[in-house]
Amino acid sequence: MASSTLICDTEPWKDLKNHVQEIKKTHLRDLMSDTDRCQSMMVEFDGILLDYSRQNATLKTMDKLYQLAEAAQLNNKINQMYNGEKINSTENRSVLHVALRAPRDAAINSDGKNVVPEVWKVLDKIKEFSETIRSGSWVGATGKVLKDVVAVGIGGSFLGPLFVHTALQTDLEAIECARGRQLQFLANVDPIDVAKSITGLNPETTLVVVVSKTFTTAETMLNARTLREWISTALGPSAVAKHMVAVSTNLTLVEKFGIDPNNAFAFWDWVGGRYSVCSAVGVLPLSLQYGFSVVEKFLKGAWSIDQHFISAPYEKNIPVLLGLLSIWNVSFLGHPARAILPYSQALEKFAPHIQQVSMESNGKGVSIDGMPLPFEAGEIDFGEPGTNGQHSFYQLIHQGRVIPCDFIGVVKSQQPVYLKGEVVSNHDELMSNFFAQPDALAVGKTPEQLQKENVAPHLIPHKTFSGNRPSLSLLLPSLNAYNIGQLLAIYEHRIAVEGFIWGINSFDQWGVELGKSLATQVRKQLHASRMKREPIEGFNFSTTTLLTRYLEASSDIPSDPPTLLPRI
Ligand code: F6P
Repeated sequence: MASSTLICDTEPWKDLKNHVQEIKKTHLRDLMSDTDRCQSMMVEFDGILLDYSRQNATLKTMDKLYQLAEAAQLNNKINQMYNGEKINSTENRSVLHVALRAPRDAAINSDGKNVVPEVWKVLDKIKEFSETIRSGSWVGATGKVLKDVVAVGIGGSFLGPLFVHTALQTDLEAIECARGRQLQFLANVDPIDVAKSITGLNPETTLVVVVSKTFTTAETMLNARTLREWISTALGPSAVAKHMVAVSTNLTLVEKFGIDPNNAFAFWDWVGGRYSVCSAVGVLPLSLQYGFSVVEKFLKGAWSIDQHFISAPYEKNIPVLLGLLSIWNVSFLGHPARAILPYSQALEKFAPHIQQVSMESNGKGVSIDGMPLPFEAGEIDFGEPGTNGQHSFYQLIHQGRVIPCDFIGVVKSQQPVYLKGEVVSNHDELMSNFFAQPDALAVGKTPEQLQKENVAPHLIPHKTFSGNRPSLSLLLPSLNAYNIGQLLAIYEHRIAVEGFIWGINSFDQWGVELGKSLATQVRKQLHASRMKREPIEGFNFSTTTLLTRYLEASSDIPSDPPTLLPRI
């Protein structure tokens, strides 16, 4: 396919469009009774089992999807990514997050240079620094051990590290390594988040890690200045050197901010923000909390999937299969959303992380060459851990809209609980739901079945489940640092596959810029109106009215107020 040809103009795309009618005549109730089909729709790699037999798809559909992948030159695009080609063309950047988890002896090039030694230089520095902090050889301004960390960052400089931290928090090995330590995150520019993130913390024992790829993000920089004030108010301005470090690609701005460049941890423009959890963005705060050896296992898990993704044939390649099925659901069957349903409370921050990775990557309206797309790309991701989601939005998924679901289960709980006399262990109870829900969606319940159960006729329509609702199941052996790395990489690559097939640039994010620049205009107006009582100008009627109400109702705020920090 020539690069300027849209994927929807290719024969395999048209063929899949025609195939939809054939699939619409099937029902998962019947498809699920074909054991050979189901067996062919199970794939295993490195302890992870993927079962996609509950997709509205036959083996013929899969063949057609592989042809679509060929038409999109999927393998070629994956290779280009691993070879450091500048596939993020609107920013003229390579996309090399795989290099962040490569072993020391690997070679991955960007601009003709092997970047793996640089990656390991930073990893070694993090290892040494985190050990210095954790062992107490580096102490704060008043001589106390820095046992608490606040990581300040937003978007990709927050969501990935939060997901991994939340997942590790209940893992036995990680708990042991984190004993006596605390890791908090500060993302929202809302001062309430400042208050929440420092509640219970003592500046004397706190290390602040400012995480920002650009070191210009408005929210992060204001939050960083706020915590700098919190530290210097309590301990004096010179304490900042001992209590603040940074992670960024922009070391010049780090220094300007007042952080010693020796206490800055670099990463590179070939790491996209939302793909940066395996860089110092995640590795530094997580190593401070859990020690480098735990985080190294996480990197190894991700690397295992990286190897699988680059080498396995389509039909055995978990991220490729997931990506193709997403394309099938979104672009052909017309299901724009996807529910991410981990049956593990430890994965409660997984869906919020994937929301950014997926929706910031693939929420695009033009092809990589700038041609308007005549189809919709991207998908709406949301999710909650089971069983909480079951008591919330599953009603809609069972009887309302069709939303393809990802069920993610874990064989061995991080925190097993057995009660004498109970029918099953607590984890078995949880997993009973993991195994039951996909069949409830796929098979449903017919009016005939309800009649046989003597259900009152007027209730039959309400109690009928149409079934035929697609899902897939991913079963992980356990949820340790290694498995968490695997899960992350599976989703990162799945999202890349979707973008490669749709023919978009999954690695830029121009759509976030307009709101930022309009906020700059509002910020200027708020300053001018509060400080100089200047009238509101340049906004439409609606915004002017809202701003007027806001300013009038908060006119008791002095025009030049003294510094005020949270009072929690
Ligand atoms: O939301 C836009 C964005 O640029 C994300 O892509 C990024 O993860 C986030 O802002 C934070 O950016 P930075 O790490 O540069 O502060």
